Amino acid sequence: MAVREFAERGADLELVGIQKRFPGFTAIEELDLVIPAGSFFALLGPSGCGKTTTLRLVAGLEEPTRGRILIGGKDVTDTKSHERPVNTVFQSYALFPHMTVIENVAFGLKRRRISDAVAKAHEALRLVELDHLAQRRPQQLSGGQQQRVALARAIVNRPALLLLDEPLGALDLKLRRQMQLELKTIQEEVGLTFLHVTHDQEEAMTMADTVAVMNKGAIEQMGAPAELYELPRTVFVANFLGQSNLFTGQVVGTTSTAITVEAADARIVVPTARAQRHQGEVAVGVRPEKVVLHTEEPAATADRNVLGPGRVIDVSFSGVSTQYLVDLGALGTVVVFAQNVGSGPVAGLGAEVWVSWEVAHGFGLDDVPVEAGRFPADDSTTSIAAQRREGLVSELEEH
Ligand SMILES: Nc1ncnc2c1ncn2[C@@H]1O[C@H](COP(=O)(O)OP(=O)(O)OP(=O)(O)O)[C@@H](O)[C@H]1O
Ligand SMILES: [Mg+2]
Repeated sequence: MAVREFAERGADLELVGIQKRFPGFTAIEELDLVIPAGSFFALLGPSGCGKTTTLRLVAGLEEPTRGRILIGGKDVTDTKSHERPVNTVFQSYALFPHMTVIENVAFGLKRRRISDAVAKAHEALRLVELDHLAQRRPQQLSGGQQQRVALARAIVNRPALLLLDEPLGALDLKLRRQMQLELKTIQEEVGLTFLHVTHDQEEAMTMADTVAVMNKGAIEQMGAPAELYELPRTVFVANFLGQSNLFTGQVVGTTSTAITVEAADARIVVPTARAQRHQGEVAVGVRPEKVVLHTEEPAATADRNVLGPGRVIDVSFSGVSTQYLVDLGALGTVVVFAQNVGSGPVAGLGAEVWVSWEVAHGFGLDDVPVEAGRFPADDSTTSIAAQRREGLVSELEEH
């Protein structure tokens, strides 16, 4: 079988107009995606947004309601799961407990009667730096080591495409960070295409060449991690990938270089090139680390936005930085991250302050604000997941 050949390198993955309906629930409305061969691609999104469903469709464990799936340019939509050049590492990395590490890794190759199965398995174990534990059984390994065996078991098949569904979910933070780096190194070494699913934004940003942010069964924005962070296009991305200060207001001036937004009684200038919408009611924002705190009113210049005065309502010291919450009245609350460069806090609780940022650092979002006022600043996956749950519960109660 051609697809059983060891892939020399990764293959492109292409999803064209994919829709997935379960009885009574549409998990994926419309998904179009191209993942170039040899790339490390992360699918990032909150719980229930359709990540696992997407992987199951690619692996052939689920049939799309509509649309086509192409791997290496070949349409595999109607190809059976075991005939696709794909391997999956699931979050629960079930190793066979009665087999040794090497037997676990060689299992798939032996079953397919591939010559040198054991030698190839040792090679895969060397890649994850566990060859010295080849004769142990899974229960004699730590969680992270078991994870690496599961990975070796998947890459030993040299699938053109490796699907990873929250593969580091069960590990503690330190091991997780270490495995992230190792996975990235392995991917670079073997050159296979990795499709990695996670709801951990830091994980997606540190590992992937390209991150696709998924929300409610659709991709909201896709790009290099830094690009997504520096220029989010939607409220969801601005809040899911890091934290953002968002303001809504009316565009009162547009030039070829900048738009001016009137929010409450303040004016905020955003570069036209960094704004998705140039008229009407818009949402604009800036990242907390780009905002500077002042204890005296700074002189207004054309290339800085200044807001204030406001009051410091919270100061939290986290070692590398201090986070300030500044109440700006009708403009809402602004978060400021000040790097701890050794000079102590600039402003104490209750102090009168101004905030400012370079016009060049602001961004304008594509969302149509639903109601007056600011968007809620939900900055963590947990809070988004909790909100979704609340939404579902109230929906259920209505029916
Ligand atoms: N077999 C099914 N029947 C009905 N609905 C399903 C089925 N499988 C998944 N869903 C629903 O589809 C949506 C997407 O599920 P999916 O497992 O893809 O989410 P996910 O993004 O992987 O979430 P998590 O981060 O929690 O793993 C969820 O709302 C889920 O309840
Ligand atoms: Mg999942």
